[in-house]
Amino acid sequence: MGDPSSAPLLVRALRGEPVERTPVWFMRQAGRSLPEYRELRQSGSLLELCRQPELAAEVTLQPVRRHGVDAAILFSDIVTPLDAIDFGVEIKPGIGPVVAQPVRDKADLARLRDFDPDVDMPALRATIEAIVAELGPQGIPLIGFAGAPFTLASYLVEGGPSKQQSLTKAMMLADPALFDALLRRLSAIAVASLRTQVDAGAQVVQVFDSWIGTLSRSQYERFVLPVMQDLFTELAELGVPRTIFGVGTGHLLDLLAQTGADCVGIDWRIDLRDARKLVPDGKALQGNLDPAVMLAPREVIEAEVLRVLAEAPDRGYVFNLGHGVLPETPPEVPGEIVRLVREHSATTTLA
Ligand code: CP3
Repeated sequence: MGDPSSAPLLVRALRGEPVERTPVWFMRQAGRSLPEYRELRQSGSLLELCRQPELAAEVTLQPVRRHGVDAAILFSDIVTPLDAIDFGVEIKPGIGPVVAQPVRDKADLARLRDFDPDVDMPALRATIEAIVAELGPQGIPLIGFAGAPFTLASYLVEGGPSKQQSLTKAMMLADPALFDALLRRLSAIAVASLRTQVDAGAQVVQVFDSWIGTLSRSQYERFVLPVMQDLFTELAELGVPRTIFGVGTGHLLDLLAQTGADCVGIDWRIDLRDARKLVPDGKALQGNLDPAVMLAPREVIEAEVLRVLAEAPDRGYVFNLGHGVLPETPPEVPGEIVRLVREHSATTTLA
């Protein structure tokens, strides 16, 4: 993969190489927290925006310009592939993804047809090419992403967002074979999407398993881990660093490391020092400032950023939030945090 020293800072940190300073980006750095996004979004739905390469590229680049982060993340959603195969999904403002005909039995699985991004979603490659044309010369990488099978399955089975995932767990427990088949179809969709994203120029990938924290360890081990291991084995062929992220996963971190991901995203509920004990040293950590800290006074923000940096490992570490930027975040705050991270992590000595 070329000269390692020429790789972007984020990529080197994810590989566990010594770096001159800690890279920083924010989950959900694009979108509603930015006035320039709200202006551009005035009409049309999120899914419509994602079908327009110029607009989707522009929204992806907005936080890079404003905050000076070390990476862009593709502006899209975990459900765009489901939209592209005409599954019948809609994103309701203030609610989230809603599915017209939820998945309840084997017949519903047939509606989850194969996903070929270049046929079903030509905007995906076009958007990434437009982003990379602008970011490439600056040496800033693009992060591609996909929804993990369990989190996507939860939207498909529940029909929309759910706190407890009870219908999803009921299917998992009552009909493990059906549930496994559902997860494996969703895994194939994620692989197809990420393959195209990397082929078009994404240099890192992140798999969002946002709602996996509702499972127990034994449920995760039995019903989800084997699918994730196969998914990450397929992604290994892409030759880019792979991150797994979920919320409320303090009890699952060692199992998330067993997926084969190169980096584990940590939410704000657990100290990075404790996370480090659960995730083997060869794997990077990413996180974990509480997104609510961004709404606090400047002194509190500074103290919390320093606390996270103090708990972070010396190598294999990427500064981020413990979940996404909240829409009510003042737009100047992420940039201030970028400057704090730069200033306070620049002293790390190169081995
Ligand atoms: O930096 C970025 O914002 C990248 C773009 C991005 C979006 N969705 C755009 C979006 C990313 C990375 C996602 C991933 C996503 N979508 C996840 C995983 C990450 C996470 O936060 O846990 C999940 C669970 C979803 C499903 C989803 N889509 C939810 C829960 C919502 C919020 C509903 C709401 O209105 O509160 C969405 C809609 C959505 N996706 C918005 C954006 C910017 C907000 C609605 C809009 O702007 O129209």
